[in-house]
Amino acid sequence: MASVATLKSLRRMAWGLAALAGLSMSPTLAQDAAAGKAVYARVCAECHGKNAEGGANGAGPPILPFAHEAPGMISIARAGKGEMAAFPRKDLSDQDIIDVVAYLKALGGPPAK
Ligand code: HEC
Repeated sequence: MASVATLKSLRRMAWGLAALAGLSMSPTLAQDAAAGKAVYARVCAECHGKNAEGGANGAGPPILPFAHEAPGMISIARAGKGEMAAFPRKDLSDQDIIDVVAYLKALGGPPAK
């Protein structure tokens, strides 16, 4: 018989999956993208360019069409990657990253120069 602990962790996993599914079907996606545009301008544009076309002097590569889901982008942002420093939560919340991913996905790609 499954232990209470197992049942609890299963329930938590189900909630996590529901949250992920909700993310991609969210009716608030447009709203997230609008918020993400501001996050992008504040945090990412400096290195990746105004339209995600890549920054001057190779500061950051072009990132369109955007190839990451929010959980993947959160991992990259928290760990940093190469020349891209890690972002602490106080500068960039998980919600900020979810929003910025919605924005970048909505841009489609390839980037406008
Ligand atoms: C300080 C400059 C800088 C800032 C700010 C910055 N990036 Fe980057 N980013 C880079 C550089 C440089 C790379 C290439 C890293 C490497 O692969 O060595 C990179 C890589 C990436 C990649 C490619 C990772 C991959 O493996 O596909 C993504 C996606 C990305 N950045 C998204 C973002 C987003 C979103 C933001 C804003 C939240 C951001 N970056 C802010 C400099 C920056």
